[in-house]
Amino acid sequence: MTPHMFPTVVLLVFMNVRLPAKGCPLPCACFASITDCRNENLTSVPQGIGLQTETLFLTANQLTTIPPRAFWNLTSLTFLDLSNNKVIPDNDTLDYVRNLLSLDFSENDIQTIPTDIFQPTPKLVWLNLAKNQLKSLPNDVIRNLHNLTYLDLSDNFIELHNNTFEGLYSLDTLILSGNRLSSLPSVAFHTISQLQILELSNNKLKYLPNNLFDKKDSLTDLILSNNTLTGSIFPALRGLSSLKYLYLSNNRISSLPPFPLESFPLLHKVTLSHNSLSVLPDGLLKGLNQLSVLELSDNSIAQLPKELFQNSSSLEYLHMDRNMFSEMPMLAGLQNVVELTLCCSKIQHWPSEVTLSQLEYLETLDLSSNLIVNFDMNIVRNNTKLTNVLLTNNPICVNMNLSVAMPLKCIN
Ligand SMILES: *[C@@H]1O[C@H](CO)[C@@H](O)[C@H](O)[C@H]1NC(C)=O
Ligand SMILES: *[C@@H]1O[C@H](CO)[C@@H](O)[C@H](O)[C@H]1NC(C)=O
Ligand SMILES: *[C@@H]1O[C@H](CO)[C@@H](O)[C@H](O)[C@H]1NC(C)=O
Ligand SMILES: *[C@@H]1O[C@H](CO)[C@@H](O)[C@H](O)[C@H]1NC(C)=O
Ligand SMILES: *[C@@H]1O[C@H](CO)[C@@H](O)[C@H](O)[C@H]1NC(C)=O
Ligand SMILES: *[C@@H]1O[C@H](CO)[C@@H](O)[C@H](O)[C@H]1NC(C)=O
Ligand SMILES: *[C@@H]1O[C@H](CO)[C@@H](O)[C@H](O)[C@H]1NC(C)=O
Ligand SMILES: *[C@@H]1O[C@H](CO)[C@@H](O)[C@H](O)[C@H]1NC(C)=O
Ligand SMILES: *[C@@H]1O[C@H](CO)[C@@H](O)[C@H](O)[C@H]1NC(C)=O
Repeated sequence: MTPHMFPTVVLLVFMNVRLPAKGCPLPCACFASITDCRNENLTSVPQGIGLQTETLFLTANQLTTIPPRAFWNLTSLTFLDLSNNKVIPDNDTLDYVRNLLSLDFSENDIQTIPTDIFQPTPKLVWLNLAKNQLKSLPNDVIRNLHNLTYLDLSDNFIELHNNTFEGLYSLDTLILSGNRLSSLPSVAFHTISQLQILELSNNKLKYLPNNLFDKKDSLTDLILSNNTLTGSIFPALRGLSSLKYLYLSNNRISSLPPFPLESFPLLHKVTLSHNSLSVLPDGLLKGLNQLSVLELSDNSIAQLPKELFQNSSSLEYLHMDRNMFSEMPMLAGLQNVVELTLCCSKIQHWPSEVTLSQLEYLETLDLSSNLIVNFDMNIVRNNTKLTNVLLTNNPICVNMNLSVAMPLKCIN
């Protein structure tokens, strides 16, 4: 591209100018190898799509059936977006697009995937089937997609079988959230040897089979929020030695084993908010030298173990809103914390000097909606980075004019 062409390109892309160019069907917009037919209320795939097309957007139209030759000879096509239509796919829908790498079929009300639909497209790397009405995937339908790395099946009604994911040797991301899953076959993920990201949030899982994650030492992100899991799941997680992100919020965890997370030395973030925890084990954070974010909001915690944060020097974000604290919890060890939130408990006293003086990187301290009546500016004098102390909805905000005492704030 020559430099003086650039403004024209920008105009075409941003103003959606119609190009009556050869190989660009009306009402689409085309540029180079991109054919863009989004949002046009199309009821059929336009004829005459340029054979040079590599990227084809048919997003947000009214497409229902795709005639057998709709994509005839489009052998350059690598990216096809059919999302947000009412397409009923057929065995031959993808017959001519054998170089396809990326297919978006999300939001189409699809009820079944025809057995042979992906036969012509063994190169597929990225497949989105989210937000349809799928109840299952026929056993062999995706089995030949050996190069598939990303599969999104979220917001369907999928039930998993032992061999649903067989053959997906390259899969690293599997999204299964929002499927009303109440149980998982213990071998369901065993054949996905490269799996890194697994999303199972928004289901109805009560427990996890003990050997569900056998040999899953590639897994880095495990998202289990919004289920009805209890503390009994921790033995099932034991083998996940590469885990960096563990999301367990919105479950029914009321107790934790003595060292629940110690087999995850690489853990960066843990969410345990919206559970029923009242007591945390002394060894909750044992071995977590890289933990940077800990979410404990919306539980019933009244006290923290004395030495909980002893080795938590990497922790930067600690959220403990809406618990039952009646005094500032012990925070010794948290020398690098940047953001500490403790709103909506029953804390009565301003944190002591010994508590705050160690938190030298603290920028935000949220103590709003507590019962704090007094404060001492001298105590925060050493906290030179502290710019935001939220005290809204505490008695102190009624009794005192704090507009003179930055960084304390009585209004958000
Ligand atoms: C598509 O149809 C809707 C409803 O009939 C209409 O409001 C909208 O303007 C149409 N869009 C185009 C691009 O024709
Ligand atoms: C597709 O290719 C065949 C064989 O090369 C040719 O006969 C046919 O006209 C082509 N169709 C289109 C729509 O280009
Ligand atoms: C797809 O092809 C298979 C045979 O390979 C057949 O059993 C099935 O009914 C076909 N599905 C559709 C939707 O045509
Ligand atoms: C899968 O990917 C590998 C490595 O990129 C490549 O050599 C192979 O041809 C691909 N398989 C298919 C069916 O395209
Ligand atoms: C699924 O795998 C489990 C464990 O290997 C086995 O006990 C069970 O019989 C299998 N179910 C089916 C339907 O093959
Ligand atoms: C949790 O899942 C239910 C359905 O299973 C859904 O309605 C709700 O919005 C989800 N909540 C969150 C916070 O995602
Ligand atoms: C902190 O680390 C020391 C030395 O590795 C260890 O002895 C101690 O048990 C750890 N404490 C906690 C609460 O993890
Ligand atoms: C501030 O820090 C200095 C040096 O670390 C220490 O001697 C002093 O007691 C601290 N003052 C307060 C109010 O925390
Ligand atoms: C609070 O103090 C500020 C600055 O001294 C002053 O302008 C303001 O009127 C005071 N507000 C009240 C409610 O006393």
